[in-house]
Amino acid sequence: MKALDIIQGEHRGMWRVASAMDALAQTLERPEERTASIQAIGAMLDYIDGYIDQVHHPKEDQYLFSALKRHAHGVGAVIERLEHEHRDGPRFRDELRQAVQSVAAGRSNDMPALVQSVAEFTEQLRAHIRAEEMHVMPEARKVLTAQDWQAIDAAFLDNDDPLFGARARSEFEALKARIIAITPAPVGLGGTAPAEVSAPAASEATGEIVLKLRGITSHYGRIQALHGIDLDVRQGQLVALVGANGAGKTTLLRTISGVQPASGGSIELYGQDITRMAPDKRVRQGVCQVPEGRQVFGPMSIEDNMRLGAYTRRDSEIDQDMERMYSIFPVLKEKRMLPAGTLSGGQQQMLAMARALMGRPKLLLLDEPSMGLAPLLVEEIFRVVKRLKAEGITIFLVEQNAQAALSIADIGYVIETGHTILSGPGAELLHNEQVKAAYLGM
Ligand SMILES: Nc1ncnc2c1ncn2[C@@H]1O[C@H](COP(=O)(O)OP(=O)(O)OP(=O)(O)O)[C@@H](O)[C@H]1O
Ligand SMILES: [Mg+2]
Repeated sequence: MKALDIIQGEHRGMWRVASAMDALAQTLERPEERTASIQAIGAMLDYIDGYIDQVHHPKEDQYLFSALKRHAHGVGAVIERLEHEHRDGPRFRDELRQAVQSVAAGRSNDMPALVQSVAEFTEQLRAHIRAEEMHVMPEARKVLTAQDWQAIDAAFLDNDDPLFGARARSEFEALKARIIAITPAPVGLGGTAPAEVSAPAASEATGEIVLKLRGITSHYGRIQALHGIDLDVRQGQLVALVGANGAGKTTLLRTISGVQPASGGSIELYGQDITRMAPDKRVRQGVCQVPEGRQVFGPMSIEDNMRLGAYTRRDSEIDQDMERMYSIFPVLKEKRMLPAGTLSGGQQQMLAMARALMGRPKLLLLDEPSMGLAPLLVEEIFRVVKRLKAEGITIFLVEQNAQAALSIADIGYVIETGHTILSGPGAELLHNEQVKAAYLGM
């Protein structure tokens, strides 16, 4: 089923192209930006003509769709529509290209028509991707056999998307950089309504980037645990990373806090490269981690555990912050002189969070806070996480409990075997068929 990952990667690329085209269409009204925007739109159309049309669509038609047709399934009508759109693509784009050329030649009266054509084009592209991801792909997972997948995967693994593929050709790099500059936020797929897809991404894309990961890889000896993770966390956001056991969630968090080295890629905190910075320095820069399994110091008192979290601080407001923690976590106040080991699992989680908060984090990293807790306690913990977000703390949350995490996240990422395979607004991922099937038990 590797082909599905590849197709989804290409969809993400195309989705980004669509968002970039929409943004460019908005700039056409401004004469000083018009020429550059028209060129960029032209280049994006070239990419779709040259790659998506020549490589991506034929492979889908020839391998994936034809295999599905050999099985009994309920998506015949959708496939027919997608095939039809594949066939119609070139004509549709020719019309758009004519509108572009007309405006480029100075016929500015044709501008409204161009803006309209771009809107229709991107809308159709999104509808196409959505139909495929929401209907065809889940069905393919269900009905296709190992033998079918062998042929399909072989065809798709042979891909080399010049824009979004791993071996991006240099002439496409500039275009890719341009698209990413225009649509910097990761954009999601498969939403149930267009408004849901674009609105949150656009509004969330405005905050300053706190954490920026690009191409992060990490190894345990010869075993590679992370395969090129790209991820952004913006000011005030709650970003959730969900994935199964062993997907690489903890490894990624430890790479961000610096206790696990990155073997490649870069980590930026507020624009500063911290990829090789020592872990304690990162704490001083405001990166505070609540580790998996809490790891509170059992024999030490609750209060002393909390003070440990403030070890990098030299200011006089530590006692004041302790009181603040006790107001967020009243149960800790009652028991503050007791050894931390006497607390229940949920209470230890709260202590671990309070300890991290005592470091006055600019970025709070949470590793599976719900692990091993009863449902009521999980709710309690997530209420606290929501409150911390409301107080303006930027949070990166890692969870196997996808339902709980995505419900409160602004942006979610799905990680599988060291690759992020999906991203988008949390609410939208909750409705994504693939996420539902794999992580929500639906
Ligand atoms: N210390 C280690 N030595 C070797 N391999 C490791 C080590 N820690 C993790 N791995 C491997 O790295 C991969 C990612 O593990 P990681 O702990 O990051 O996953 P995870 O998503 O946090 O899982 P979980 O939900 O179980 O906490 C797994 O294949 C795991 O076996
Ligand atoms: Mg883990």
